[in-house]
Amino acid sequence: MAVLAGKIAFVTGGASGLGEAIARAYASEGASVIIADIDTANGEVLATALGARFVHLDVTQEASWAKALAPFERIDVLVNNAGITTLGSIEEITLDQFRHELDIDVLGVFMGTQAVLPKMKAHGGSIINMSSLSGVKASANLVAYNAAKAAVTLMTKSCALHFAEKGYGIRCNSIHPGAIHTPIIDKVLAQSDDPDALYQSFVDVHPVKRLGKPEEIAAMAVFLASDASAFATGAEFRVDGGASI
Ligand SMILES: NC(=O)c1ccc[n+]([C@@H]2O[C@H](COP(=O)([O-])OP(=O)(O)OC[C@H]3O[C@@H](n4cnc5c(N)ncnc54)[C@H](O)[C@@H]3O)[C@@H](O)[C@H]2O)c1
Repeated sequence: MAVLAGKIAFVTGGASGLGEAIARAYASEGASVIIADIDTANGEVLATALGARFVHLDVTQEASWAKALAPFERIDVLVNNAGITTLGSIEEITLDQFRHELDIDVLGVFMGTQAVLPKMKAHGGSIINMSSLSGVKASANLVAYNAAKAAVTLMTKSCALHFAEKGYGIRCNSIHPGAIHTPIIDKVLAQSDDPDALYQSFVDVHPVKRLGKPEEIAAMAVFLASDASAFATGAEFRVDGGASI
């Protein structure tokens, strides 16, 4: 049975990597999928392949959110997935790099959650924020990413409490993937002086001794979008091969 039949799902960063895997899984579970991304070329190709809809969205711009959501009367599921990863320790990273990371990974989630509420409040829904293993565990060379993803972890819980207190029927949860082989990993490796050693270090943080697959994150996103997770809110769903234990 298609567990997301009748649901309208809006997936940010849906043109690549985890967002793409989530869009694919949602479409195959019967949802009406809206892929929202700054990458119009890939987003449109994927949307056509899935029978989904593409909207251009820059998650850092309030006006872009308003325009991207305007065509839709209701949204049942918002996946705040768009994100970047900036490498650098506290001594290396510049203020501009730190700000850019927070703009996309934190303010993007904040603006998306605010913008979707009028489309969700009357009937309830599920907001899924893509945090990370890095939202619960620090790395010396990820100061900006750690700060951003930890902010998402607690923002999720604050929103979940508010929605519960108001009785909106909106749930808000975060997913915390370990390292999953997507284009974001290739971008991080490209920033490194020793990509092979960095890749091995990604493998080594997982007790199961491998990176995750995008479909393994998409499966959790399906569960959180579906009515099967109706009692789950404000929770951290770690899908990380044991890395956070
Ligand atoms: N891949 C991993 O190992 C991993 C692990 C933990 C968490 N995450 C998180 O998962 C999410 C997706 O990562 P991914 O691995 O699929 O990366 P990715 O680079 O493959 O995809 C990110 C997508 O976000 C889009 N995007 C970037 N900036 C945007 C903006 N301003 N507005 C709209 N869209 C924008 C990109 O165009 C791209 O399609 C991110 O939030 C990332 O931090 C990834």
